[in-house]
Amino acid sequence: MGRKVAIIGAGVSGLASIKCCLEEGLEPTCFEKNDVIGGLWQFTDIPEKGRTSVYRSVMSNTSKEMTCFSDFPFPESCPNYLHHSLFLEYLKDYAKHFHLLDCIQFKTTVYSIRKHPDFTTTGQWVVYTEANGKKASTVFDAVMICSGHFTEPNLPLNSFPGIENFKGHYMHSWEYRDPKGLEGKKVLILGAGNTGGDVAVEVSRTAAKVFLSTRNGAWVVSRMSQAGWPGDMISQTRFLNFILRLLPISIRDKLLAKKFNQWFNHKNYGLIPIKSSLAYVILNDELPTCILCGSVVVKPNVKRFSETSAIFEDGTIEENIDVVIFTTGYAASFVFLEESVRNVCKSSTFLYKQIFPPQLEKPTLAFIGFISVTGSILPPVELQARWVTRVFNGSNKLPPMNRMMNEIAKQKKRLLKKTPN
Ligand SMILES: Cc1cc2nc3c(=O)[nH]c(=O)nc-3n(C[C@H](O)[C@H](O)[C@H](O)COP(=O)(O)OP(=O)(O)OC[C@H]3O[C@@H](n4cnc5c(N)ncnc54)[C@H](O)[C@@H]3O)c2cc1C
Ligand SMILES: NC(=O)c1ccc[n+]([C@@H]2O[C@H](COP(=O)([O-])OP(=O)(O)OC[C@H]3O[C@@H](n4cnc5c(N)ncnc54)[C@H](OP(=O)(O)O)[C@@H]3O)[C@@H](O)[C@H]2O)c1
Repeated sequence: MGRKVAIIGAGVSGLASIKCCLEEGLEPTCFEKNDVIGGLWQFTDIPEKGRTSVYRSVMSNTSKEMTCFSDFPFPESCPNYLHHSLFLEYLKDYAKHFHLLDCIQFKTTVYSIRKHPDFTTTGQWVVYTEANGKKASTVFDAVMICSGHFTEPNLPLNSFPGIENFKGHYMHSWEYRDPKGLEGKKVLILGAGNTGGDVAVEVSRTAAKVFLSTRNGAWVVSRMSQAGWPGDMISQTRFLNFILRLLPISIRDKLLAKKFNQWFNHKNYGLIPIKSSLAYVILNDELPTCILCGSVVVKPNVKRFSETSAIFEDGTIEENIDVVIFTTGYAASFVFLEESVRNVCKSSTFLYKQIFPPQLEKPTLAFIGFISVTGSILPPVELQARWVTRVFNGSNKLPPMNRMMNEIAKQKKRLLKKTPN
């Protein structure tokens, strides 16, 4: 019998983890609180607490060519970019093809994970679950956390004085499904990430006016690249990455800015990023046209709200705002982890290779998919799962704790350099 591995969540990360466990002779049990696989790609009409939610129209922003797992391409019949329903179909086919469903316990929520009393010698964990009101606990040799990291909406009300007296309606994009109910309204979208861009464009088709407020700006790129190729097929190459890594950051940023400004001059559209890092790239084919046609108006950050208006940092005021949608992103939350472990996993930058908490006596806990990458998350998730399962079965070893801590410190420095203030 192989070592028993608990996998929390049956989204992209959980599915890849089950498959790799099976391939490495481990015995996976995946706990999924929903009754289906797919995680965030499973669209729901009503948002569910503790779960990422996507809007009705969401399409992948990575092409099927660059998104698939290494041994399972998307069907020929799929378009290059994928509606969420096609993404989900793909994951279902993947799970079926590799017989992963047998390893999943659906409608089972993991509510606690604690170190086993013998942890220092065995590295074991006790996983507490609840299914249909019944509680259970099981001992596992290792745990893979695949519960997603866009679960808690970030609603930064404290950053916006006066919002408490605002008489219009406000909500987080976590609640947003489609533009129904926003017809003819004056809508302020706060935050220009991928969600902000998508929601602004969609709402602008029927709203009276849409304002898109951004504190940093964004590089907007198209899904389509030269000669009609999917953008990531052209830009995500080992060669280009290698060259970009060699260049000093200031030169790299200048070259990228030149490239991004070829489509449209971001300064003229009020979008030029203050911090010019790659972290501020969003994909949106229609946003520049909406701005050009005036259906979306770009504004700086909101300084404060009055009962009916938004006052922006450049001193301009927009009156009679009906609805504010906070497209201000998400935070990860691992409430089920015991506090001593949760505290060292607040951010993936605290983890060795953004996967292993370095302080544990045994390398038997790993986070999969807790990363932000340029490009699709599926290939790196698969690599993470391959490596982790080889550490779990003893084929690979982690370096000593002090080396891991040094590496983490270096990685943090590198990240700070990449996103200079
Ligand atoms: C709007 C949006 C669009 C995106 N578009 C792309 C894209 O185009 N291309 C791309 O590569 N990436 C994209 N991403 C990144 C995305 O995070 C990944 O594609 C991927 O789906 C994440 O998978 P995951 O398994 O890590 O997390 P999730 O999909 O969030 O799955 C986590 C699973 O864990 C379960 N779970 C959580 N807690 C528990 C618990 N306590 N007990 C039991 N089960 C639990 C949840 O029910 C869920 O099924 C997008 C992200 C968002 C938010
Ligand atoms: N497939 C798709 O097409 C698609 C669609 C939507 C989302 N996604 C993915 O889903 C994930 C979440 O995306 P997201 O757009 O919801 O969140 P996000 O990428 O975290 O963007 C949040 C935005 O809100 C801003 N913000 C946060 N706090 C703020 C504050 N206090 N005041 C002012 N602005 C604030 C951020 O500004 P700063 O940058 O300055 O912090 C950022 O512009 C991302 O990985 C994204 O790529 C993909």
